[in-house]
Amino acid sequence: MRFRPFGSTARDVAIIGQGSWRMDERNRASSVSALRRGLDAGMTHIDTAEMYGDAEPIVGQAIAGRRDEVFLVSKVLPHNASRAGTIVACERSLARLGTDRLDCYLLHWRGSYPLEETIAGFEQLVQHGKILSWGVSNFDEEDLDEALAIAGSGRIACNQVLYHLDERAIEHAVIPWCDRNDVAVVGYSPFGSGDFPAPSSPGGRVLAEIAAAHGASVRQVALAALARHAFVIPKASSPDHAIDNAGAGDLLLDEAAFARLDAAFPLGRKPRSLPMI
Ligand SMILES: NC(=O)c1ccc[n+]([C@@H]2O[C@H](COP(=O)([O-])OP(=O)(O)OC[C@H]3O[C@@H](n4cnc5c(N)ncnc54)[C@H](OP(=O)(O)O)[C@@H]3O)[C@@H](O)[C@H]2O)c1
Repeated sequence: MRFRPFGSTARDVAIIGQGSWRMDERNRASSVSALRRGLDAGMTHIDTAEMYGDAEPIVGQAIAGRRDEVFLVSKVLPHNASRAGTIVACERSLARLGTDRLDCYLLHWRGSYPLEETIAGFEQLVQHGKILSWGVSNFDEEDLDEALAIAGSGRIACNQVLYHLDERAIEHAVIPWCDRNDVAVVGYSPFGSGDFPAPSSPGGRVLAEIAAAHGASVRQVALAALARHAFVIPKASSPDHAIDNAGAGDLLLDEAAFARLDAAFPLGRKPRSLPMI
């Protein structure tokens, strides 16, 4: 597993992490097992959110006894993100996760509370050691400008945004903005949230050829392609899927492979607004 500095935090974080959306009571046992197998294989960045319901307790069960291995991220819902509400929401997430701190705490998307309030809540949580850093999610470059103007440089750890082979909009302006300002880009739904290119599609065939040439799986090729620009957080409730995904952390694609993938999954025009799930 390769690691990379995570924005302005002084932390190196695994380039392939683990999501937890839609982990619930029906798949608890396999999800816990998948998260643990993923940790064993180096996918130590684990993403969750208060919005994901049962996922926080499931992540808590998976990391019990191994907290120090994990770069643990959760998110506050916009309608809870007043200054005081952010602090209360964080305390609830900590209790559900069975831990005393988050490595990073994100605003899930922009809502109606002024950013000043949410950021003041985040900074208070940092002062009290409840979170070690904070970031944002689903922010376009204008949102990021606003957050930077309020917080100052070196405060926004990351921006978590939609990123998969068929949805590369963040490459137009969000990734360049984040690179300029030392903000980590975390790509969510790297498999299109279950809508992965079919093997019989033109893109699926290119993935299969590159995978065969590199002795890798098609999912590993997709993750390695995205990890060129971003940390990625695939979700797997199946342990076999988790192991497969972790293999992408060691896969190095050559320039010819990147060129073929760029052609098979074109960037497209810059959309008016940032796509999100
Ligand atoms: N900030 C935001 O607004 C936001 C929005 C969406 C998602 N997220 C985060 O990003 C994470 C990932 O996104 P996502 O959950 O939408 O979807 P995803 O990771 O793009 O896709 C998940 C699907 O892919 C399957 N899968 C995973 N690894 C596989 C493999 N190696 N082979 C075959 N199938 C595989 C999973 O199956 P199994 O589960 O059966 O293994 C699941 O059906 C979320 O869990 C969440 O933490 C954040």
